Amino acid sequence: MGRPGGINTIVHHLVGGYLQPGDVAVDATAGNGHDTVFLAQKVGEKGFVYAFDIQLEALDQTERRLREEGLRERVQLIQAGHEEMDRYVEKRPVKAVMFNLGYLPGSDKKVITRPETTLKAVQAALNLLAPGGVVSITVYTGHPGGEEESDALATLFSTLDGREFAVLKGFYVNRSSKAPFFYLVEKTGGRGR
Ligand SMILES: C[S@@+](CC[C@H](N)C(=O)[O-])C[C@H]1O[C@@H](n2cnc3c(N)ncnc32)[C@H](O)[C@@H]1O
Repeated sequence: MGRPGGINTIVHHLVGGYLQPGDVAVDATAGNGHDTVFLAQKVGEKGFVYAFDIQLEALDQTERRLREEGLRERVQLIQAGHEEMDRYVEKRPVKAVMFNLGYLPGSDKKVITRPETTLKAVQAALNLLAPGGVVSITVYTGHPGGEEESDALATLFSTLDGREFAVLKGFYVNRSSKAPFFYLVEKTGGRGR
């Protein structure tokens, strides 16, 4: 588990509440592998995780972390854009999809997630989701391009059918307005309001 009060720790607590052993989950932005390891632990040895990243460096780092934890067997690492997840995710239904946007910490800050592909990927994730499943998106606005991505997501979520999806936004009220925040989208299966 990460730093107390850190956005990733809080998102793990929330997403973890949706996952059971044997579930299928997707890490849409593997990065340094923290979320992939978290998901792999939660789904257990009978579950499965797909982890996407466009950078080989990120997938190598994720693989190293998974091996250290003895979790490599239950994860498929995919070097592809998350906007293509529909083509790769064969085990369904999917119970959780995590997005952690922005750039790979400690690496090239010019390789970032971008509005067009992020929107496509979030839409694909919502389509893959089982009723009762969840998509989390952690959003960073402090880097060039971050605000545009945040605005694009706000527009998408404000138009999602409230009977099919419950969309929550979590942000710090006592930190900088540039601090990261998250969306948690639950598929209610048409019973939401
Ligand atoms: C903030 S990092 C992810 C952190 C990661 N979840 C962790 O636990 O360490 C964002 C990652 O998104 C990746 N990325 C950027 N565009 C992408 C795309 N279209 N599809 C998949 N990954 C992408 C970057 O390469 C970067 O590694």
